[in-house]
Amino acid sequence: KQLCRFPLVTVRGVPLMCHIADNFEHIWAFTPDPSDLLIATYPKAGTTWTQEIVDLLLNNGDAEACMRAPTPVRSPFLEIFSPKPIPSGLDLLKKMTPPRMIKTHLPFQLVPLGFWENKCKTIYVARNAKDNLVSYYHFDRMNQTQPEPGPWDSYIHKFMQGDVGWGSWYDHVKSYWAEREKRNILYLFYEDMKENPRREVERIMRYLGLSLSDEVISQIVELTSFKSMKENPMSNYSCVPKLVFDDSISPFMRKGEVGDWRNHFTPEQSKMFDKDYKEKMKDVDIPFRDLI
Ligand code: PPS
Repeated sequence: KQLCRFPLVTVRGVPLMCHIADNFEHIWAFTPDPSDLLIATYPKAGTTWTQEIVDLLLNNGDAEACMRAPTPVRSPFLEIFSPKPIPSGLDLLKKMTPPRMIKTHLPFQLVPLGFWENKCKTIYVARNAKDNLVSYYHFDRMNQTQPEPGPWDSYIHKFMQGDVGWGSWYDHVKSYWAEREKRNILYLFYEDMKENPRREVERIMRYLGLSLSDEVISQIVELTSFKSMKENPMSNYSCVPKLVFDDSISPFMRKGEVGDWRNHFTPEQSKMFDKDYKEKMKDVDIPFRDLI
């Protein structure tokens, strides 16, 4: 397929980019090694940040080691089937020896069963809905392979209806929340990571069964600050051609803040969104912050 804004095709009720939908049976058949680690998120919830923290933890804070390749090469994106000659996530994974750090945006029910059968460690990161929406809106503007976001006001409705790549934010965060205890999933929040990055880095470290010195932890916190990652060519996605990620429209490392939704939602939009949010989230008690 040529580079284009891929239309969405529904797989088991979840809208996915058509190149992912077309290849879904290969993705579903993927069998991880028990030592592989899954980093699962709804798009734009803090995936890259977490991938960088995990890689640094696994490399004892060695910045040079973690600059061996761009993030999507060090930590392949399971379901991505890019137009040739860019390798798919599965191609990259085949060439690596476990333990591998695997990224996915698939909701829990679409993750290949081997991850759960093999009891792979899984980190899920959730971000409050409004900031997540804002970040996704700007990403859909700049990523020339994602569906056109359209005007801001209509995008809010698309997001609320789950009519965006990887579907409903509400269903996504709930799908992993429901399974977190049974599957030993470490469920993190972007807002917690912003509030106290050291505490969250240490939480990830313990989950991975590692024990690093205070000095190394401080270094990891520093190397994974928004500023450091924005400047780091191996983590800022400058590896992606401008034809695909047009950063003159919006950079991949855009703002990295909590509460940017306040600069986007009108009071009426916010009220309408909150009403719908309460209804959709009434059956769960996921401790999201900075929404209202
Ligand atoms: S993707 O494409 O789904 O993998 O994107 P993802 O990495 O999940 O999310 C991108 C947003 O995360 C912000 N980001 C960070 N925030 C704080 N600290 C660090 N280190 C960091 N790294 C990435 C990035 O800026 C995007 O959010 P917005 O709000 O658009 O700035």
